[in-house]
Amino acid sequence: MLNQKQLFDIPEEVTYLNIASLSPSFKAVEKAGIDAVLQKSKPYTIPVSDFFDPVTELKGLFAKLIDTDEPERVVSIPSVSYGMATVANNIKLNPNDEILVIEEQFPSNIYAWKKLAKTYGAKIITIQNPGLKDYNGKQWNQDILDAITVNTALVAMGQIHWSNGTLFDVKAIRKKTKEHNALLVIDGSQTIGAFPFSVKEIQPDALICAGYKWLFGPYGCAYAYYGSYFDHGEPIENNWANRLDSEKLSELTNYQPLYKPLSNRYAVGESGNFIYVKMQIEALKQVTKWTPKAIQDYCKSLSIDAAKELTDLGCIIEHPEYRSHHLFGVELPEHVNIDFLKTALQNQNIHVSFRGKYIRISCHLYNTTDDFKKLVKCIKSVL
Ligand SMILES: Cc1ncc(COP(=O)(O)O)c(C=O)c1O
Repeated sequence: MLNQKQLFDIPEEVTYLNIASLSPSFKAVEKAGIDAVLQKSKPYTIPVSDFFDPVTELKGLFAKLIDTDEPERVVSIPSVSYGMATVANNIKLNPNDEILVIEEQFPSNIYAWKKLAKTYGAKIITIQNPGLKDYNGKQWNQDILDAITVNTALVAMGQIHWSNGTLFDVKAIRKKTKEHNALLVIDGSQTIGAFPFSVKEIQPDALICAGYKWLFGPYGCAYAYYGSYFDHGEPIENNWANRLDSEKLSELTNYQPLYKPLSNRYAVGESGNFIYVKMQIEALKQVTKWTPKAIQDYCKSLSIDAAKELTDLGCIIEHPEYRSHHLFGVELPEHVNIDFLKTALQNQNIHVSFRGKYIRISCHLYNTTDDFKKLVKCIKSVL
């Protein structure tokens, strides 16, 4: 895979290592958005089929990306919290059932479970970061597997840790949850698009995913895949377009009790959003062409030497086998003054995130090894 910077509009002087926060739109996505905004000024040029057909195309693209033959299990949603609210709305627990989560998980994948636990008198079990210097991820994965027992009703987690990139073995976790009849809900916001994921292989009960990071969509778009557990559930809202035959606009007031098949009932109202959907289609066409595997390999080739150099300088970074390469966390030696580093990064136009105790580095096909050299030099200057 060759560098793809030509598709973006990132100035030479900017070192953008922060796609885990927000992706830059590539030019085709930007153009799709602008064209769609302009088209709204001439609504008579927007065919009625645009309420539905682009959404179908988008679902197909996302289905391909996550390796499922069932695009009708994919729906557009506005945020991860929305997708999780749908999951929570359709789960009943017994007192003392356990919901298993990971320490310092993203809040949109926590608050829903806290509320659910409170409603049913269930327990939240948080699997702590073991905090080991070496092979921390290996131990963390073992602790997760050990914690899944007959009491576990739900495991809700990411495929990686969102702030340090620790890789979680969702295949082994799925196997254990199945043995105990527990549901598995995955937040794919920091992996889908940049790290391979197969619904056929993992069979999650739900996969919820922000769309504005590794999937290059606008802020305010997200995706959900719901497995068969949710086939007959209750949506959190009741939009007309999710009902059977909603394409027949002249018959909308023949109120329809039936939903469209599989997960369609869970799509957000106005999921046909002409502007967003057209941007999302351009984005996913490109991501599926690149492929997550090639993106991951490219990011590894860029960052592996820099990560080694930082480790040799005394920073703590998860072993390459137990972390992702498009996103990883760097824990600085304790004596380092973070404010000095923040200023140095700002002065040199280097963009990263600070999440918990980690500097979160995230890269993509527009980055080069030079970006990592600049980053290492900058960190070195404050060590
Ligand atoms: C792991 C993870 N999940 C979810 C989100 C976004 O959640 P929401 O769409 O509810 O704002 C983020 C944003 O940074 C994230 O990192």
